[in-house]
Amino acid sequence: MRKMTTLLLSGLCAGIISYGTAMAEENDALTFNPSPDAPEHTMTFPDGSTVTYRAYENLYYVTDVVDSVYQSLNVYVPEVAYTNNDQTPVFLKTHVGGYMAAKATQPSSTDASGRALAEGYVVVIPGSRGANSKITTASGEEVFTGRAPNGLVDLKAAIRYLRYNKGRIPGDMEKIITDGTSAGGAMSSLLGATGNHPVYEPYLDTLGAAKERDDIFAAVCYCPITDLEHADMAYEWLYNVTNATTRGLTPEQIRISNELAALYPVYLNSLGLKKPDGTLLTDANYTDYLKSFLIRSAQRAKNAGADMPENAGITMNTGFRGSPGEFVVDIDLETYLNYVVTTQPLKTPPAFDALDVLAPKATPENNVFGDETGSSVNFTDFSLRKATKDFSATIDPALQERVYSMNPMYFIGNEKSTTTPNWYIRHGARDRDTGFQVSVNLYTRLINQGYNVNFDLAWNRGHMGDYNLDDLFSWIRKVVVQEGN
Ligand code: DHB
Repeated sequence: MRKMTTLLLSGLCAGIISYGTAMAEENDALTFNPSPDAPEHTMTFPDGSTVTYRAYENLYYVTDVVDSVYQSLNVYVPEVAYTNNDQTPVFLKTHVGGYMAAKATQPSSTDASGRALAEGYVVVIPGSRGANSKITTASGEEVFTGRAPNGLVDLKAAIRYLRYNKGRIPGDMEKIITDGTSAGGAMSSLLGATGNHPVYEPYLDTLGAAKERDDIFAAVCYCPITDLEHADMAYEWLYNVTNATTRGLTPEQIRISNELAALYPVYLNSLGLKKPDGTLLTDANYTDYLKSFLIRSAQRAKNAGADMPENAGITMNTGFRGSPGEFVVDIDLETYLNYVVTTQPLKTPPAFDALDVLAPKATPENNVFGDETGSSVNFTDFSLRKATKDFSATIDPALQERVYSMNPMYFIGNEKSTTTPNWYIRHGARDRDTGFQVSVNLYTRLINQGYNVNFDLAWNRGHMGDYNLDDLFSWIRKVVVQEGN
């Protein structure tokens, strides 16, 4: 309590922060030790409104830093958060994209980080290692530092650091909300699903992460590129109907597409997912389920005044004297998927584990599962077998374990993990970076386990994040208040 009071006063004293001896006993490398002259900044938003906040930057969140470029975080505290800091949500934005390393950056007036400051939340922007981060050792050797799951481990270490500094850093460390897009959306979903799971413990130990919990309060996931080892089959099962039309594949690519598509039902059916009404989801009823999200999304857009594209396979009801009515009554999925392809070309098969199957090209996923020498590797048996022409080859168990540690689907409601209760998941209705099923299945597994999920295939959105921030932040306010009751 003493710490909190000190911090509160310090905030009021225009940044003159002096803790005296209150925390001397915890003055180790992970103790938040703010500079007495933490700079004050003012952010101006496009609409002319402003927010004033203090910046605490370049804080290393592990004791045994491997990569000093990435393993630090920045904390931004808006003025109001100094006065009610024990109730203020902490909004953690990751800039991970393409499974690459991300730096701790400043907040932006055009993404959710700036909006979070305007809401009065403490904003944390951590860096994290990724597929491309490397260091040169004393002996001149190049070492890739961020191969999976190291990027995720860094983000967990950042969360532990925040909790370790509860009472020193303003904000309620039981209200940490993570936000990311694409590979960053996958990271956010993993942070949400895998809280405190022991599989990451050895990595966290080696880094000297704080001995704290790393579960979070809410996960905001825009177009999460996840369930990677099943993403190729999901993609081909979905988009197979476009192969000979808008997609324009070669016969060789079509063969791979067909083989992958044929594998998906076994995986899908093994998930044992249920629709909200309790019906078991299988490959037989899945397209109708998927359509239900698209229809709902199109209807919302229509209600908001959007024009429906003519070539998207949408059927409206019949209105006055045969004119198009107000209600989306059907979407022809094959036509809709071909429409999606006309807005942006699809990935070629295999979309994710592509290395050496039809071409030597390595994807971000092939890179992130490589090792510290900078190798790129196959991470599915399917592609490994094609690449090596050894048709009984299987992924090495150590790699399998790493692939497992990067898939939130295994961890939701797992007895060893603390899965966050609150989820906000968006996947653009014409985002072709991964199959819609990846987000739909994530959502469905979560609701099947009783979690609170706000999910939408956002109409006319491509592969992007941090949109419709009014909607996001009204959801956040709601879950924060509900939890407070
Ligand atoms: C991202 C996009 C992809 O298509 C992919 O396979 C992995 C990551 C991204 O934008 O982060």
